[in-house]
Amino acid sequence: MGDLARVAVLGASGYTGGELLRLLATHPGVRVTVLGARQAAGRTLAEVHPHLASGPLAGMRLEPLEAEDLPARADLVLLALPHGVSASLVPPLLEAGLRAVDLAGDFRLPAEAYPAWYGFEHPAPDWLERAVYGLPELFRDVVRGARLVANPGCYPTPVALGLAPLYREGLLEPGPVLVDGKTGLSGAGKEPTETTIYAATQDSVRPYRFPRHQHTPEMERSLALAGAEPAPSVTFVPHLVPAVRGVLITCYARAAAGATTETLTEALAAAYAGEPFVRVLPAGAMVDSKRVRGSNVVELQAVVDPRTGAAVVAGAVDNLVKGAAGQAVQNLNLMAGFDETTALPTAGVYP
Ligand SMILES: NC(=O)c1ccc[n+]([C@@H]2O[C@H](COP(=O)([O-])OP(=O)(O)OC[C@H]3O[C@@H](n4cnc5c(N)ncnc54)[C@H](OP(=O)(O)O)[C@@H]3O)[C@@H](O)[C@H]2O)c1
Repeated sequence: MGDLARVAVLGASGYTGGELLRLLATHPGVRVTVLGARQAAGRTLAEVHPHLASGPLAGMRLEPLEAEDLPARADLVLLALPHGVSASLVPPLLEAGLRAVDLAGDFRLPAEAYPAWYGFEHPAPDWLERAVYGLPELFRDVVRGARLVANPGCYPTPVALGLAPLYREGLLEPGPVLVDGKTGLSGAGKEPTETTIYAATQDSVRPYRFPRHQHTPEMERSLALAGAEPAPSVTFVPHLVPAVRGVLITCYARAAAGATTETLTEALAAAYAGEPFVRVLPAGAMVDSKRVRGSNVVELQAVVDPRTGAAVVAGAVDNLVKGAAGQAVQNLNLMAGFDETTALPTAGVYP
């Protein structure tokens, strides 16, 4: 790929697209060559994302997504588009020799799951089979050589990272796991809807899309891929909370006989020793979505309630960074042979 990777960002006008460009603007190994958008095509990045108006990409003009010469102008494409769009857009780009990281859910599940969970028949099942699930801390080696990386969802990222090592070590009983999720409003993208506008969300906490949220089968699949044997079934209840950024998940399972808060915490700490983007909290400390805001870090915490035998694993990420754009840049770094941490902040923005 040479020293400078030429990168196209499709969906540059959205929230995750903007976050990709905030990170890539300081990436020493990347030259952003194409910004693709739908309605925002024709405008400059500074007009579309005024918070990026002082950066090196500010004057770049967004183009229609279907730019015919795109394959000649990029080595790698990052797609931050609504579900169902990249499934058709990606295959011709791959066939033209590009590599791709898709931030949507279009390449995360087996083909037969798409009608039920995403509401469409997958148009490229062959590419789906070749896609690699891009959770670097669990699947780093396959990401390096991948042509197509399915960037994980914001909720499944902390769930898989928090639970996989504990199932693998036999510290949780096999069986169903309950996952409670909470997300800030940026998780729904930039288009306002009746249920996401300020008047509907201020002072409100409410579940949504339960029990049909599309991240449910992704959680089950990522745990199976990561070696949870047998993989648990997941009941997932997401909630919308009146915050802008942040995802917090709380997973409830049964602790295996003899498992304690200390053994679970030690297992997580051992699994992620040396991982720059995973912060395993010591026993007794509590995760906080605000602390990881703006960073590519996931915070994890595990507790066993000795009275009931319940094991509780909690995790926090910034949905737009480790839950989306940061993880995509981490995958890009692996694919292009850069240091995996390049352009990725570990310090959060606080308070
Ligand atoms: N937000 C998160 O926290 C998060 C986390 C993980 C993954 N994701 C995934 O990342 C993807 C992008 O999410 P987002 O939050 O960035 O969404 P967003 O803010 O709504 O941005 C969507 C982008 O896609 C373009 N677009 C919208 N409708 C389109 C259509 N029908 N055809 C082609 N392009 C279209 C928009 O272009 P114009 O504005 O120019 O029309 C915009 O650039 C989604 O698949 C989402 O599930 C999001």
